[in-house]
Amino acid sequence: MGVLVRAIVLMTFLDLTGPSEIKGVWKGSTTLPCAYLPVEDVVQQTLRWTVVHDQSSGTVFWRDVSGDHVLLSEYRDRVSVPKDAPGNVSLHILNLEISDRGTYTCQVTWRASNNTRASMTWARLLYLPVAATKPVVRASEPGLTFPAGASTSLTCVASGSPPISYRWFWGAPGGKALLLSSQAELAWDSLQPSDTGEYYCEAENRVGAGAVQRSDAVELTVRGECPELLLGAEHAESFHTRVEQLWTRDRDFILSMRNI
Ligand SMILES: *[C@@H]1O[C@H](CO)[C@@H](O)[C@H](O)[C@H]1NC(C)=O
Ligand SMILES: *[C@@H]1O[C@H](CO)[C@@H](O)[C@H](O)[C@H]1NC(C)=O
Repeated sequence: MGVLVRAIVLMTFLDLTGPSEIKGVWKGSTTLPCAYLPVEDVVQQTLRWTVVHDQSSGTVFWRDVSGDHVLLSEYRDRVSVPKDAPGNVSLHILNLEISDRGTYTCQVTWRASNNTRASMTWARLLYLPVAATKPVVRASEPGLTFPAGASTSLTCVASGSPPISYRWFWGAPGGKALLLSSQAELAWDSLQPSDTGEYYCEAENRVGAGAVQRSDAVELTVRGECPELLLGAEHAESFHTRVEQLWTRDRDFILSMRNI
């Protein structure tokens, strides 16, 4: 064991201080660095690049005396390691797919002329930032018609690389709209008839170069034609309200009430 440790100390990776996270671009290419300082008398035996994805893992690339082998079919014709650069065992990946995201580990084994063996590994995380998609609106309950006083919420859902920022608007997309919230969820404790209208949300992350994705509008309706019902029976005797006027302006119901 002591021999092994001494041999490991002998082989120094050049880039342990380099970035451990590598950013790739969809359809682009990238190099996952892994390099060591070659030492006289010590010969590289094998090189293995493995990957751990969310769902799967395996050996991407294997090099031994018999040559280079790409073991995962999805990487065939897309990966290579420099051949005539001693100590440079960086993995070059072409035509990046979103599914290439994962943690890549470079493992090298060596043998010294006195037959001592050594091995070292170094992991890199490859991430591919993805622009936010067009968001969809999820409602906490099916149907978007509510009695006044009800509580509900709408959630804006987009996919893409986090962090995704959200904004909620009241109004028609592309038209005049009022910013309501800068959170994914828009919630009401007690809906009012004046909350009736069109709502939409926007999603954005840093990948999309400032491109804002906008949801389709959803129409929320709050029924409030019967204010007496809302007051509750306990108030009905001492407190009488009459609907004075009811009209629509920009789809808003305006109730004017008067005590009698
Ligand atoms: C190793 O090879 C890659 C690809 O050819 C290159 O980009 C990188 O700079 C090399 N690294 C070192 C330490 O020589
Ligand atoms: C074997 O060779 C390596 C490299 O030359 C050296 O560092 C190590 O001490 C040697 N081990 C023994 C047991 O001689």
